[in-house]
Parts: sequence; structure tokens; C-alpha cells
Amino acid sequence: MSAQPKPSHVPVMVDRVIALLAPALSTPGSVLVDATLGLGGHSEAFLNACPEARLIGLDRDHNALRLAGERLAPYGDRVTLVHAVYDELPRVLDDLGIDAIDGILFDLGVSSMQLDEAERGFAYAQDAPLDMRMDDTTGITAADVLNTYSPADLARILYQYGEEKFARRIVDRIVAEREKEPFTTSARLSELVRSAIPAATRRTGGHPAKRTFQALRIEVNGELEVLRRALPAAIDALALHGRIVVMSYHSLEDRITKQSLAIGTKSDVPDDLPVIPAGHEPFLKLLTRGAERPTDEELEANPRSASVRVRAAERIRTRGLVA
Ligand SMILES: C[S@@+](CC[C@H](N)C(=O)[O-])C[C@H]1O[C@@H](n2cnc3c(N)ncnc32)[C@H](O)[C@@H]1O
Repeated sequence: MSAQPKPSHVPVMVDRVIALLAPALSTPGSVLVDATLGLGGHSEAFLNACPEARLIGLDRDHNALRLAGERLAPYGDRVTLVHAVYDELPRVLDDLGIDAIDGILFDLGVSSMQLDEAERGFAYAQDAPLDMRMDDTTGITAADVLNTYSPADLARILYQYGEEKFARRIVDRIVAEREKEPFTTSARLSELVRSAIPAATRRTGGHPAKRTFQALRIEVNGELEVLRRALPAAIDALALHGRIVVMSYHSLEDRITKQSLAIGTKSDVPDDLPVIPAGHEPFLKLLTRGAERPTDEELEANPRSASVRVRAAERIRTRGLVA
């Protein structure tokens, strides 16, 4: 139905993701939310696999919405696309008059399209303005973060979001350099990071600037705070037997996901109570054992899947009874 995608645009673990969500989407009019529409790869696969279901696709990136809109046009009124940050889901559903949803997918992080668009500054390997906003019409840019944050905040971001062991050394260099001239483009930052880390470690673990760029992107887009708000709201929106699938590419995303799902799988009464009172039973059942990783075949077909961790759960108690 659409042109053959480049290998980097093949949706990650698409068969497994569909197998996890499809059982909730077989009744006419069932609703799937793709919270991270991107180029619409997963969405298109769903619309084909679940002919009774309709799709609501969200993205904060106007360009992604436009391209996915073109790709999904053949599905007509089965598809509704909305520009939104995914923690705005309750408002979006309200606006559309939708009370509960049957499935929701989060395929987190940056899209291959965003990485390919050099001028948006996500890629450390190309010189471009230090922007990194997924919605480039609002909010602070990576250059703003680099030029204005305190050294302590910069070090925390690089260490936590980038898991960068040499965060302090890099930040010392950033601070010295920004006093001479504010940062505007990515090549200067890439080179600074490369020269700030010890020569012996430069040869391992990919491009030395990769971790710093990832950390800045997470900060610029408030990715972890948004996810922390969005997952409970998504679980809350699920109908009975509705399913949620989350694909993480960073250990902190996966930890937030694990914790958000765990809350629903446990009763909220003390362990020593002999009987769980009605309305306090768990409201989620996990569909994955721990986090699922890609198979060797998947890895070969789709290098973007290398760091993915997939967790999924089913709603087993309705909202009305949640305390
Ligand atoms: C990994 S891509 C999704 C790819 C998609 N599954 C596909 O098959 O084409 C992630 C997308 O989610 C969007 N995104 C990331 N965080 C978001 C947020 N908080 N709210 C809305 N969209 C977000 C990004 O703009 C990007 O387009």
C-alpha cells in the first residue's frame, strides 16, 4: 500500500507487537491509540491486521503527522491523527468523545526520520543547529540547555540520561567553551566531547558524542517526566481486557515502564490481610515475562531494534472499581 520502506524505517518487532495487542482489537469499533505514530509503520500494520479496529495516532512532531497522514490515507475514516504530547491523552480522548480504549502502543524515543533530517540536530555525525526538539515549534533547544544550564545540572543530565561516565570532564569543557562563545551547532559539541574523554575509551562503545546527544535530547523533550505522567493515564484509559505495549530504548524508560505496570499488578492492601477486599484486587496482568528482547532474526533485519525492551499488560479490572 505504501512505498517499500528503507531498512531503518521498518517498525521494530512489529509482528510481536501486533500479537500482543490484536486480541483486544477484534470487536467492531475497538480503538487502538498509537501514542508515538512516527512514520505510521506500526499503525499501518495494525490497520491491516485488525480490520475491525479504528486508530487514533498521536505525535508531537508535525512533520511525522503529515507523513504518516499520507501513508495512512487509504484507511480513510478508520484513522484519526492528532498533534499532541502523549501525556495529553485524557484530553485528546475527551475531545473525541471516547470513553475508553482497547489498546495503546508506545514506541519511545526518536524516529529514524528525525535522525535522518540533519537540520533538526538530533544526529551527532552531521553538523547542524543544536535543536533536538521533537516539536520544533515550541520549547527550549539543545543549544539553550548547553548555554544556560548550571554545570551541576548539565553533569546530572549527562550522567543520568546519557549514562556518561565522563560527564564532569565533558561539562568542564562545555563551560569553558561556552564562555568564549555560545554553542550553536552540533559539530563543535561532537568534537568537544571526543577530545574531553580519555583516548583509550574513544575506541570503544560507538561514537563518543552519542551519549551526550541522547542526554540532551531527553532533557529538551522532557521525555522521562512526560512518560511518568503518560503511562498511568494510558492504563487508566484502558477498557476491561484492553492492552498496553511499551517499547523502550533506554534503561530509564524501561524502569519507569516496569514500575508503572507493577503498580497495577499488585493489590494495594497490606500483604498480611487474609482476603483482598473487592475493588482492591490487581487491575493489570503482565503479558510479557520481564522485558522481551528482539530475536536474532529481528536484529539482523532491523538494527534499530538492538536496544529495545518490550513490556505489555492487560487490564483485568474495570476503571470504575479502582480505588
Ligand atoms: C520511534 S518513533 C515511532 C515510530 C513508529 N512506531 C513507526 O512505526 O513509524 C517515536 C515517535 O514518537 C514521537 N514522540 C516521542 N515522544 C513523544 C511524546 N511525548 N508525545 C508525542 N509523540 C512523541 C516522536 O516524535 C517520534 O515520531
